[in-house]
Formats: sequence, structure tokens, C-alpha cells
Amino acid sequence: MTTSSLATRESRGVSRDAFIATGLLALTLIPSAAGAFRVGEIAAGAPITAANTRFMEMPLPVVLHIIGALVYSGIGAFQFLPRLRSRHIGWHRFAGRYLLVPAGVAVALSGLWMTAFYDVPPIDGLGLQVSRYLVGTLMLAFLVLGVCAVLRHDIGAHRGWMIRAYALAMGAGTQVLTTAPFVALFGPPDEFWRLVQMDAGWLINIVVAEVIIRRGRARQAVA
Ligand code: HEM
Repeated sequence: MTTSSLATRESRGVSRDAFIATGLLALTLIPSAAGAFRVGEIAAGAPITAANTRFMEMPLPVVLHIIGALVYSGIGAFQFLPRLRSRHIGWHRFAGRYLLVPAGVAVALSGLWMTAFYDVPPIDGLGLQVSRYLVGTLMLAFLVLGVCAVLRHDIGAHRGWMIRAYALAMGAGTQVLTTAPFVALFGPPDEFWRLVQMDAGWLINIVVAEVIIRRGRARQAVA
């Protein structure tokens, strides 16, 4: 391979990594900012209102959830960069083992706990409660399956389960896109449309994750 084709390949790798990182971090921006705002409000002992009573009275689950989500979505984005991963596999393993699996488990467990025990607004009805139970449980299961796969050195399966777990968590980011425009155009939804908008965020991510997993498998089969 010539020096110039090596340089082209190198610059394509850098661009691909930058594109993936920018996309994932952009997706997590708004829920992360909302989370930072909520933690700040709790830390500052803000006045209790109808919108924040559950968070102010029982802050631990939501604070754990938000810190876990910041670590999982922010640091997690860098696990999916092919060039960074191949050059710094030690970092990939360290971050996965000591930061991302614990943070992901904290996000899913605290999400399940809040689903069960928080007095959520009436618009978050039974349908959304069932969806959150399903998403939290699946995210936990995918993380466990991802860890089991890497322990038996099945990297293809590890990749698939970790992409699925991350995609479910990032539903929080896609939900900004599936709710905000409709709220801006038509005002606050009723219980049914709230469920449709929230589930759409998770479903879109599940479909995108499956496409990415299949493309990766197809690329490996050709190589
Ligand atoms: C990285 C992914 C996630 C991020 C960034 C995120 C972010 C947040 C934030 C910022 C809040 C506080 C909302 C507020 O202050 O009004 C929250 C609440 C909550 N999240 Fe997540 N979340 C994520 C994943 C999940 C998952 C996977 C579940 C599934 C069980 C979940 C379930 C919940 C529940 C039940 C609440 C409380 C809702 C309420 O009481 O209104 N979250 N999340």
C-alpha cells in the first residue's frame, strides 16, 4: 500500500470516528442538560413544586440515574469509535468494565425503581409504565449478555448486545426528537399520544441498532 493511500485510509478513519462521536454526543445533549439541571435543583434545595415533588422528596434514585446516564451516554459514545477502539483497546476494556457496565446497570435499575415507586404525572399512564419496565429489563439483560459474550471471547455477540443496550438507553435522546416538535406544534399530548411519542424513540433506536449490527456482520463476512 502506498503512503498516500495509507494517509487517505487514516483520514477516513479519523472522520468516521468524529462523525459517530458527534452524532452520539449530540443525541445525549438535551437529556444530559436536563439531568444536570435537575441535580443542580436538588443540590440547591430549590422550592418544591408539583413538577419536582417526587425528585425533591426522594432524590437518591434520580441522582443515581442522572449520574449513571451522564457517564454511560458520554463515555459510552467513545466505545463505538472503530479507530479509537483498535488503537486503545486497554482503555476500551477499562472503561467498559469499571465505568460503563456499572453506570449502565445503575441507569436501568434506578429507572426501574422510579417506574415502580415515583408518583409520576397522570399523563405517564400504565402503557408508558409497561414500556419503561420492558426497556429497563431489556437493557439490564443486554448488558449481562454483552459481558457474558466477552468473557467467552465472542466479540461479534459482545458488539451486538452492547449496541442494543446503548441504543435502548439513548432512547432518552431520540425521545427529545419524537416529542418536542409535536409539543411545539400541537401543545402537550394526551396519555395515548405521550405513549406513542415515547415508544417511537425506543423503537427507532431498536431498528437503527439492528441495522448497524447486521451491517457489521455483513462487513466481517466479506473480510
Ligand atoms: C442514558 C440514558 C438516559 C438518560 C440520559 C436519562 C435521563 C433522565 C433524566 C434527565 C431524568 C429526570 C427527568 C426530570 O428531571 O424531569 C430521567 C428520569 C427518568 N428516567 Fe431516565 N434516562 C435514561 C435512561 C432511562 C432508562 C433506560 C429508563 C428505563 C427504565 C429510564 C427511566 C426513567 C424514569 C422512570 C424516570 C422518572 C420519570 C418521572 O418521574 O417523571 N431512563 N431520566
